[in-house]
Amino acid sequence: MIPSTLLGTASIPNNGGELRLTQRENDFSIHLKGVRGELMNSRVHGSEIALAELGCAHIQGKDDAMVLVGGLGMGFTLAAALKTASITSQVVVAELVPEVIEWNKGPLGECAGRPLADNRVRVHLGDVAELFKTKQAAYDAVLLDVDNGPEGFTQTGNNNLYSIESLQAIRETLHPGGVLALWSAWHDPKFTLQLKKARFKVEAKTVRAHKGKGSRHTIYLARKI
Ligand SMILES: C[S@@+](CC[C@H](N)C(=O)[O-])C[C@H]1O[C@@H](n2cnc3c(N)ncnc32)[C@H](O)[C@@H]1O
Repeated sequence: MIPSTLLGTASIPNNGGELRLTQRENDFSIHLKGVRGELMNSRVHGSEIALAELGCAHIQGKDDAMVLVGGLGMGFTLAAALKTASITSQVVVAELVPEVIEWNKGPLGECAGRPLADNRVRVHLGDVAELFKTKQAAYDAVLLDVDNGPEGFTQTGNNNLYSIESLQAIRETLHPGGVLALWSAWHDPKFTLQLKKARFKVEAKTVRAHKGKGSRHTIYLARKI
């Protein structure tokens, strides 16, 4: 097998360890050093696109829609959100690790068609959780894919994101009818209950990892009613 080449490393804030970008032929991987595993691989991105298609379906054709994407990763979710959003819409992308933004400005950015270059995009460098502290209705859709599911993986601090308090804070940043969409590598009925307790109307959709094939992933769709 052709060995992979290390293109870059980054420290994850809050002692989250080391994030690595590697390339093998045309495929890129962002993973955590050691046994913790892979966050994202460019070869398999069907469910990251589905996250935006399902989470933004209700804003199609809407003027001035506001979308929040957390985090950037390889930009597939961001690119798919831009595809659905109208020309007058804005998409904020929150990314914790500065190097991930730099990597997307280099060769990695080609994977999703360089969505950061779209003038509807605004980058928030920092923890996406900071944007939920305002508790003011600002977004029509919040698309969350910062871990491999509703538990802290990139950094343990992300565990707080999935608590009832945090889900309620996210709900307050949504306009009425707005949707929180969350990507997960597994289906956890307890998380559906958690979203319901935070007063969302919830659906859990199964999507395939790659072109209708591969692993089954879950997209939680939580609508503010
Ligand atoms: C699985 S990747 C996202 C993949 C992305 N959906 C795509 O289409 O390529 C997770 C990303 O979230 C970032 N991240 C992790 N925790 C975060 C947080 N609390 N706030 C913002 N970004 C975060 C990671 O650095 C990484 O870039």
